[in-house]
Amino acid sequence: MNLFGHHLIATPTFLQPSSAPVRPHAGTAKPSKAAADTNAPAANDSSETASEFAVHQGDCTLLLPQYADRSFDLVVTDPPYIVGYRDRSGRSVANDDNDKWLEPAFREIYRVLAQDAFCLSFYGWNQTDRFFAAWKAAGFRIGGHITFPKRYSSSVRLVRYQHESAYLLVKGQPEPANVIGDVIDWGAYTGNKLHPTQKPLSILVPLIQAFSKPGAHVLDPFMGSGSTLAAGMMCGRHCTGIELDKGNFEIAKKRLTRMAQSRSRLVDDIG
Ligand SMILES: C[S@@+](CC[C@H](N)C(=O)[O-])C[C@H]1O[C@@H](n2cnc3c(N)ncnc32)[C@H](O)[C@@H]1O
Repeated sequence: MNLFGHHLIATPTFLQPSSAPVRPHAGTAKPSKAAADTNAPAANDSSETASEFAVHQGDCTLLLPQYADRSFDLVVTDPPYIVGYRDRSGRSVANDDNDKWLEPAFREIYRVLAQDAFCLSFYGWNQTDRFFAAWKAAGFRIGGHITFPKRYSSSVRLVRYQHESAYLLVKGQPEPANVIGDVIDWGAYTGNKLHPTQKPLSILVPLIQAFSKPGAHVLDPFMGSGSTLAAGMMCGRHCTGIELDKGNFEIAKKRLTRMAQSRSRLVDDIG
């Protein structure tokens, strides 16, 4: 049975024990036969699957290869910025000190995306050359650049750093569901309560609405606390997330489970 193939808005039922395999699934496009036959779990993966979302704990460079080609309609992701980030309380981000994961991850992201589809990727502005190299090596065209001005500064050095940015990466010839501006207000500070680099839902919702259709299957292979999935669920998308860090994975799983149980697309009440 393909556990991921249906989009239902319902109180979630967890279908898999934590040792269950990661199953490839059909998105809007047909999976390749070879990939569809793949069903092997990664040794360190644990998974939870509900009707609206599926989350997996593990390294996305190892887990994505288990998905069929063209399994997802949209990727929205916020990978490590490769800047050795540490916040005031000492929290850090796994793999933020190296780029070994960068090319393998985006090669897989490109493969698992539908034939004509978008990927939105946040990135570290001082590592643009590395991100560009990985995106282009994967096969993506650069379709746009979106900035998110903040109402506060993340840090102050040579300038006051008060915006984030993401590239719109293109596979094939997709059309946006609606055309949005490339400057999106960051909105209120999340407080980074769930993750040291938590993205606000207010910037993720317009991206998901613009670059996918209701019922689409959205992937975030670097999900952190699950913000992309939370936004996707609010927009009526089916969402899949992968997270390396066990603590972040548990936070995301709890957050998304409670959202699904609330049966509301308007409430993200775990802060
Ligand atoms: C910038 S954070 C994402 C934060 C997220 N947008 C949020 O709002 O909570 C990047 C995340 O990727 C995870 N990560 C790093 N390397 C990974 C890998 N190879 N596979 C899966 N997750 C990874 C980190 O643990 C971190 O939580």
